[in-house]
Amino acid sequence: MRFDLVTLFPDFFESPLRSGLVGKALQKQIAEVFVTNPRDFATDKHRKVDDEPYGGGVGMVMKPEPIAAALDSLPQLPRREVIYFTPQGQPMTQSLFKALSANCDQLVLLCGHYEGVDERVMSLVDREVSLGDFVLTCGEIPALTLLNGVLRLQPGTVGKEESLKAESFEEPLLDYPHYTRPPEFRGLTVPAVLMSGNHGAIEQWRREEQILRTRERRPDLDRPPAPPPTHPPCMGPDQWTQVQWVIQRLETHQIHYQVTGGLAGNLYGSAWPLHDLDVDVAIADFDRAYACFQDWAIAPPDRYIDAEFDLLLLRLDVNGLLVDLCADEAAYAIRGQKRLPLNTDLKTAHRTRYFGQSLWVQSLHHLIAYKERLGRSADLAELRQLLR
Ligand SMILES: C[S@@+](CC[C@H](N)C(=O)[O-])C[C@H]1O[C@@H](n2cnc3c(N)ncnc32)[C@H](O)[C@@H]1O
Repeated sequence: MRFDLVTLFPDFFESPLRSGLVGKALQKQIAEVFVTNPRDFATDKHRKVDDEPYGGGVGMVMKPEPIAAALDSLPQLPRREVIYFTPQGQPMTQSLFKALSANCDQLVLLCGHYEGVDERVMSLVDREVSLGDFVLTCGEIPALTLLNGVLRLQPGTVGKEESLKAESFEEPLLDYPHYTRPPEFRGLTVPAVLMSGNHGAIEQWRREEQILRTRERRPDLDRPPAPPPTHPPCMGPDQWTQVQWVIQRLETHQIHYQVTGGLAGNLYGSAWPLHDLDVDVAIADFDRAYACFQDWAIAPPDRYIDAEFDLLLLRLDVNGLLVDLCADEAAYAIRGQKRLPLNTDLKTAHRTRYFGQSLWVQSLHHLIAYKERLGRSADLAELRQLLR
């Protein structure tokens, strides 16, 4: 596994990456860590990486260009995520560590400072993660925390695999209390069962302690397990992986797009099953979209005309997921003899986070207008309901 720390303060990581199990794991080459400083990519003579906020106010904002150049300079392994640390991100949890450890070859960890980074940097980021509901001075501390938690799960970092299973949060339970010698310390004794040698009784006692502790300290954990957080309920994990791949490729190639149709409805709360992925791309980017997706194209870009639609489309089959890339300004609904523009205006799209994926989505009002043009009354009724 490869970690790339993108930080203005590389020294911060020196000692933590040499110490303890992390130090040993890196020596054993279970993972590699590389440090990149955006300041090395600043082009002005003062190597400036921050500037005053537009609109005024206190504090400085990290400039987008040195960060983008630092990110662009990194190699791209096939299963890579770029993570930005911010109090506004998804909470850092053990299940996130597990998902990243199992699904990624490369984690790029972008550390913020000052008031944070220019918002446009989020177009280069796959996930925003928070260490908790508090504010620190820097992103290096959460980055180190995530690196530690993910590296710990890599085979070979922790001596005995069993010790991974027995920790807090492996199940939705906290760990049991631990004791070591001496048997009495300042009048406090070790529970007799732990010295009984009766393994069945010890196991039972530990289990009961786990349950009691969880009820007392973290009753929120003692709930029925939620469905896996990494894929939406309206599609399977494989389908979601393909959707994420398409979005990431569009963003990597800077193709302006918005997700529309069924997935957009899902984002606003509908439960429509996803039949295909509908994406509008800027007509100016249409040729580049073909160049970058041509290995998945079912046919070259062409006009698609039926009783309902007149669209300039590039149709893809991405490992079984059908994707329609539609040129935004060449999309019409057909009503009788009329061709009505669908007004799929990319400028009104929202940047939205959905199951950890950041993407541009057609606004709900535009989605409703789109469905109105198509005369889809059942979809409209549900969307209007969601609007309320
Ligand atoms: C002073 S903070 C900026 C806080 C930001 N203006 C806000 O209120 O959301 C500076 C940097 O520290 C990091 N940071 C601070 N608290 C964090 C937390 N709870 N989780 C993750 N990152 C945090 C982020 O990278 C952030 O850009």
